[in-house]
Amino acid sequence: MIKPIVAGNWKMNKTPSEGNKFSLSLIENLDSISDTDVIICPPFTGLNSVVPSDCYDLGAQNCYFENSGAFTGEVSVDMLIDCKVKYVILGHSERRTIFGEDDKVIGDKVSSVINANMIPVLCIGETIEELNKGLAKETVYKQLKKGLSKVGSLKDIVIAYEPVWAIGTGLTASSEKISEIHSYIRGVLTEFYNETESSLIPILYGGSVNSNNAEELINVDSVNGFLIGGASLDVEKFVDIIKIVDKK
Ligand code: 13P
Repeated sequence: MIKPIVAGNWKMNKTPSEGNKFSLSLIENLDSISDTDVIICPPFTGLNSVVPSDCYDLGAQNCYFENSGAFTGEVSVDMLIDCKVKYVILGHSERRTIFGEDDKVIGDKVSSVINANMIPVLCIGETIEELNKGLAKETVYKQLKKGLSKVGSLKDIVIAYEPVWAIGTGLTASSEKISEIHSYIRGVLTEFYNETESSLIPILYGGSVNSNNAEELINVDSVNGFLIGGASLDVEKFVDIIKIVDKK
């Protein structure tokens, strides 16, 4: 049985003081949540301003694979560990498209996060062009193969399937499509590793999840939770989604 996860990716939103206020309000509202792991992922500048709590874990939105040195603007795994970070989002489509990260760099990052005993949240998903050409499965296969190329065992990793065309657009993939791709992803993980390891990996869905569609989406076969952008910026909306997932 995989414990569901609801992760909020704040992207480049919220100052440290706004993040601090959000976390206080989140703590007040998460009393009754017991069967769902909640993660919040502020920008780097906000990691130390979020109030530590048993109610949620802290995630980062990126990191570099080298330990230290002349890498202006980058952040290492040790720096994240010192901020009590447990999860690191890697390979988000915005990192891939806006900042030019390729599967090789993402694979190196996944490996360095695992070696540092944190948990990578590896994001994969097809663009609209790939979808229209019928290449969704080929795309996620390639992203998994390269993103996991240095991962010997599948312990402690989270996969997030985020179709790029569904991110921030108000469009979501249909339940049937999500179910098909999530099952496909689990099958690929079984092919790369084995059924026991693959069956324990949370596969999250991301892309325009909100409190109106969360109920339908969490009931899709093989969906183990969500990676949420826009709706995670508002405490009420975020908590509504967490409660829907928790009562499933
Ligand atoms: P939205 O929920 O805003 O579509 O963003 C999804 C996402 O990119 C989470 O990483």
